[in-house]
Amino acid sequence: MYYWDKSLEVGNQMIDEQHKQLIDALNSFLNARTGQKSNSELKKSLDFLNDYTIKHFYEEERLQKKYEYPDYENHKKLHEGLKKVVRELQTQLIMKGPSDALFDDVQIKVGDWLIAHIKSQDVKIGAHLKSKGVV
Ligand SMILES: [Fe+2]
Repeated sequence: MYYWDKSLEVGNQMIDEQHKQLIDALNSFLNARTGQKSNSELKKSLDFLNDYTIKHFYEEERLQKKYEYPDYENHKKLHEGLKKVVRELQTQLIMKGPSDALFDDVQIKVGDWLIAHIKSQDVKIGAHLKSKGVV
């Protein structure tokens, strides 16, 4: 389980709100590890996580461009990397079904990655937006 707390706050209302939704989507998938979701429910849950990740990254990148965030290109590459990981996990779920390895990957390669990304990268966007008077 992941929890949103102040250590994840970047200070922009939209970004913080979307990060909370992403954490909810992650938890909803990971909680199914105990096996109470059917394969089609699991697929829906991972599809939702994928769609929401794409939407969130798009919105975050749009804000960066609009307010001329200097590290935009690099940040976009990091986002592309995660989108590829999630796509691969979707394929893995379809081809092989749920497994410990799949849940571990979602936790480590998506969940832990996202938390670290928010703390190391997204907080810098928050600070930049704040310097431009955007909250
Ligand atoms: Fe980001």
